[in-house]
Amino acid sequence: MNNEMITQCPRKTFSKAASCYERLSSLQKDIGCTLLAMVPGGERYEVLDIGMGTGWLTEKTGERFPSARLTGIDCAPGMVAEAKKKKIHTVLEADAQCLPCADGVFDLIISNCVYQWVEDMPKAFSEAFRALDPDGDFCFSCFAEKTLFELRESIEKNTSVADGRLHHWHLLTKESIQSALNKAGFTKVQLMSSLKVEEFEDLFSLISWLKTIGANRVKRNMFVGPRMLSQANHYYQKHFPLQQGIAATFEIIFGVAQK
Ligand SMILES: C[S@@+](CC[C@H](N)C(=O)[O-])C[C@H]1O[C@@H](n2cnc3c(N)ncnc32)[C@H](O)[C@@H]1O
Repeated sequence: MNNEMITQCPRKTFSKAASCYERLSSLQKDIGCTLLAMVPGGERYEVLDIGMGTGWLTEKTGERFPSARLTGIDCAPGMVAEAKKKKIHTVLEADAQCLPCADGVFDLIISNCVYQWVEDMPKAFSEAFRALDPDGDFCFSCFAEKTLFELRESIEKNTSVADGRLHHWHLLTKESIQSALNKAGFTKVQLMSSLKVEEFEDLFSLISWLKTIGANRVKRNMFVGPRMLSQANHYYQKHFPLQQGIAATFEIIFGVAQK
């Protein structure tokens, strides 16, 4: 897809989605709970949640580690405003690529479903490395390359949208993540990939969900056309049916890394 068709910063779309995000993000919540279960045990005193969104996982992490001081950052002002209503000690509007903290202050850094949005992933991982205590853990999840392959194929084969993406997250791979983590300085890295298949009524309801949760960044003036979309929907229903509707695959990579 031509870059001019896509807004480059997710701040606006995620801000707009902030008030209804939590109600519609059961997928991200499931992934977040799996991520939290992967965090190694032991006491935690300083926790950072990168791209905390509304802060639901930050708060949940606080329940697991009651002695911890919780900090959450997000680049979307609307998300920051929602997170300020939660039991989080410090909530800041900031970018994952430039963390507003001193070196080595956090003994746990978590981040759920964020890095596919970040422009410069290696830079963001270097920042996480810098902010992490030498004995700390960096635990994250992100969406990877197979995510929404059915939607991309249906759009690509039936419209003029070149790479089939009506959204603009980076199609991360296990290899690119491993390499960026090593480049940042992490020496112990465990990566696990898992597939989750969700059912949607049709292509329109999938696109509408992506838009409502802030994950569709296509500019309003992009013209795909109702006829093309209807053809894409037809193709989707024919090739990727699931029970009463259509299948939408999400590939999630979970990472646990230490210095
Ligand atoms: C899919 S939401 C996930 C929110 C939350 N972690 C959760 O589990 O529900 C992605 C979040 O990442 C934030 N985000 C995207 N790029 C970012 C960046 N470069 N720096 C900080 N936050 C970012 C967005 O504003 C959004 O709130």
